[in-house]
Amino acid sequence: MRSVSITKIDGVPGQVYYPLRTITSAMPTLDSTSVLLKINAAALNHRDQFIRQHLYPGISFGVPLGSDAVARVVGLGTGVADSQLLNKRVLIYPARGWVSAAQAPESEFSILGGTKLYPTGTFADYVKIESANLISPCPPHLDDIAAAALPLAGLTAYRALFTLGEVKPGMTVLITGSGGGVAMFAVQFAKAIGARVYVTSGSDEKLAFARSKLQSDGGVLYTSKSWGADLAVMFKANNISGIDLVVDGAGGDSMNQVLRLMNLGSRYVSYGMTIKPELSFSMGAVLKHLVLLGSTMGSKREFDEMLELVSKYKIQPVVAKTVVGLDNLEDAFTALMDSHRLGKVVVIVNERLAKSSI
Ligand SMILES: NC(=O)c1ccc[n+]([C@@H]2O[C@H](COP(=O)([O-])OP(=O)(O)OC[C@H]3O[C@@H](n4cnc5c(N)ncnc54)[C@H](OP(=O)(O)O)[C@@H]3O)[C@@H](O)[C@H]2O)c1
Repeated sequence: MRSVSITKIDGVPGQVYYPLRTITSAMPTLDSTSVLLKINAAALNHRDQFIRQHLYPGISFGVPLGSDAVARVVGLGTGVADSQLLNKRVLIYPARGWVSAAQAPESEFSILGGTKLYPTGTFADYVKIESANLISPCPPHLDDIAAAALPLAGLTAYRALFTLGEVKPGMTVLITGSGGGVAMFAVQFAKAIGARVYVTSGSDEKLAFARSKLQSDGGVLYTSKSWGADLAVMFKANNISGIDLVVDGAGGDSMNQVLRLMNLGSRYVSYGMTIKPELSFSMGAVLKHLVLLGSTMGSKREFDEMLELVSKYKIQPVVAKTVVGLDNLEDAFTALMDSHRLGKVVVIVNERLAKSSI
């Protein structure tokens, strides 16, 4: 079987860009609790890029990259009780060590793909997953390309919005960087349950997309130095009294920009810091009784709740680019870093499916 990892070259974190390396190896052998999956399609996340730049903890030269995939079950360990799983189309929970606790992982949490901490990944023909408890049935309304895009970004959006953000119908939610993989799901999920959603984004085209395709209620360009003031003008025009919840993947001065628009005791959930790895929290935020919450992915229980939500509202992940074959993975990375990209980047791994999927 083939898988794709990275090759070590000289360079410092942030400046180095590790080349991709295809590895041919024997098929994994099953132990009693594990399941063998044949990957149909896999998707890229920002962390795959960070791994190639050595900006991620525990990176490995040899472990396949990739956290997201839709796959078919082709083998079951002797101790897996549910024989019905064989041949099922499934999504892989993109981590391990977190079953159901609401506050934080119960045990050592690690994310699938590219690191020593969970040494397997989805940019591969096959993947062995250590327990059948780490896979879930794929929502039937999704084709392979859409399904592959869902796991990591969908899970992150779900926990930030529902478990920590406690979003409810009618709330006013601000989602930053709506063109991002996680943010796009957050907009779709929040609109599905009836929240009012405003966004920031980097271009008029992306704001128009958020409005027409994701049904956002409005948005402003974060490229404007005073985008918080622009949002205040928009709120006034639309009679919006203030923000109940911010779901932020940008960091930097994002909180300061919107502070005066935030309602007393409102929540600010931070799941990422794309601008820089810090978020300024001022005395003004203290005086507003603001609740600041850090969020990382989510538990297997939240993963299943997210899949239920996606099935219930027939949510369709937005895919910007599909690449066919692991041999063309470099094209997928190029697409991932294209600032005009709108949606996820997916690789069809099982090329036999390509003709029927595209
Ligand atoms: N905590 C977790 O579990 C978790 C999980 C996934 C990702 N993350 C982190 O969350 C961030 C987003 O991840 P992703 O996979 O969604 O990445 P992505 O698809 O590459 O999206 C990044 C987005 O950042 C937005 N952005 C760039 N500059 C911005 C600014 N100045 N203000 C606001 N938004 C800005 C852009 O939005 P526009 O396209 O709208 O311009 C871009 O699409 C990354 O930092 C990632 O490491 C964390």
